Amino acid sequence: MGVCIGAMGGVEVLLLVFLFGSETSLALNWNPVPRKTVRYQDSLDSMAKFGIQGVFNYSMLTLSEHERVLYVGAREALFALDPNDISRQLRPQIDWQAPMDKKRECVIKGKSNQTECFNYIRFLQSYNHTHLYTCGTYAFQPKCTYVNADYFTLSTSPLEDGKGKCPYDPAKGHTGIIVDKELYSATLNNFLGTEPVIQRNLGQQHYSMKTEYLPAWLNEPDFVASALVRESGGSKEGDDDKIYFFFSERALELDCDTEVTVARVARVCKGDLGGSRTLQKKWTTFQKARLDCSLPERHVSFNSLQAVFTLPGQDWRGTTFFGIFHAQWGDVDVSAVCQYQIADVKKVFEGSYKEYREASQRWGRYSGSVPSPRPGSCITNSDRESGYNSSLQLPDATLNFAKKHPLMEDKALARPLLLTKGVNFTRLVVDRVTGLDQRAYNVLFIGTGTN
Ligand SMILES: *[C@@H]1O[C@H](CO)[C@@H](O)[C@H](O)[C@H]1NC(C)=O
Ligand SMILES: *[C@@H]1O[C@H](CO)[C@@H](O)[C@H](O)[C@H]1NC(C)=O
Repeated sequence: MGVCIGAMGGVEVLLLVFLFGSETSLALNWNPVPRKTVRYQDSLDSMAKFGIQGVFNYSMLTLSEHERVLYVGAREALFALDPNDISRQLRPQIDWQAPMDKKRECVIKGKSNQTECFNYIRFLQSYNHTHLYTCGTYAFQPKCTYVNADYFTLSTSPLEDGKGKCPYDPAKGHTGIIVDKELYSATLNNFLGTEPVIQRNLGQQHYSMKTEYLPAWLNEPDFVASALVRESGGSKEGDDDKIYFFFSERALELDCDTEVTVARVARVCKGDLGGSRTLQKKWTTFQKARLDCSLPERHVSFNSLQAVFTLPGQDWRGTTFFGIFHAQWGDVDVSAVCQYQIADVKKVFEGSYKEYREASQRWGRYSGSVPSPRPGSCITNSDRESGYNSSLQLPDATLNFAKKHPLMEDKALARPLLLTKGVNFTRLVVDRVTGLDQRAYNVLFIGTGTN
């Protein structure tokens, strides 16, 4: 994985590999020594590389489900590569350029014809057995379409509007995931980049669902990653599957004059259909919480989230999220990795809500009574027994409360697994392996921006 990122970007990338016992109590590792280090320079002779003259920004990588094709989205081009030898193209490339008139409009609106007014592929994932779905910025007028996986050609049907599925600005954070033929995306919904949204569409059975445009819901977010956790699996409560989103945003809840960024985890339930009067076509299950990666005794806290990798377990209860965090200590860049178990994240969403108090103009723990069914929760068996079979049937009291209380009081807490000064970690992949001693280890593959 790291090999592909390094070689394909043409970026000078250092790949670090660390090994951690997955069971042991985790003492902090300051500037730990990687088990293996791969320098981009050293890798030039020994590793397969891929790059086409005149094509830049190989930023989307997607392995097909059967792992026989590595799909790559770049600037105005898509590729199908052999994962065992990425220098080999399995099919001729797809050129998907924004047309000249769109590029001209983009320039007239003040964007750069050198860097911005192109079609940057920002989404590329399997849709079903025969097709992929892809979105590009299309010179600041995002568009999406299907790709025939066998022939590796763009669909001949008209391009779909990419608004809300793909950012306008190629430099902005974005994440998306296709779950059961529905696309969940977290992006900026307008040309100016001032309307953040987490939305769902593509599905036949549901209409499009969105977050509210309220600063309490999303406040200048920088979206980083998303993940599906199939929490309905073996659930005695009849729980629903959930889609998790990871991002940094400007915190409203901190009493500071300066702008403070915090890392967040948010989630929605897959079966959410919105409310029928309140929160119509809006998530009734959008909840978010702070992702805390810190060493309280040293007053060290990491607030900027760079990347997240979701490591599945034997079943969903074993899911672990690994996050890369950044901070600056004076002039020194510091990177850290923190890990969160799904059970700890769930507990935060089942805990107290935060509330804005008009009188003191501060956010604090909500201690009043909570309506029933519990706001922000998925529909479960006990709700069904009370006659609530879908979010459309939820009472206004529950929905109004959910709308006003998207933020949880407690944080998902973790101490850094490792912490390194003078390096920017950029990418992370984690593999769980069994060692010769029969113990389970997590192997962390980390890409950096240094060479
Ligand atoms: C595209 O790549 C170039 C260098 O290859 C880089 O300067 C630029 O920031 C990249 N743009 C985006 C939107 O990633
Ligand atoms: C880390 O990234 C920041 C900006 O994101 C940059 O200013 C800095 O030079 C980078 N540090 C290293 C060690 O590459």
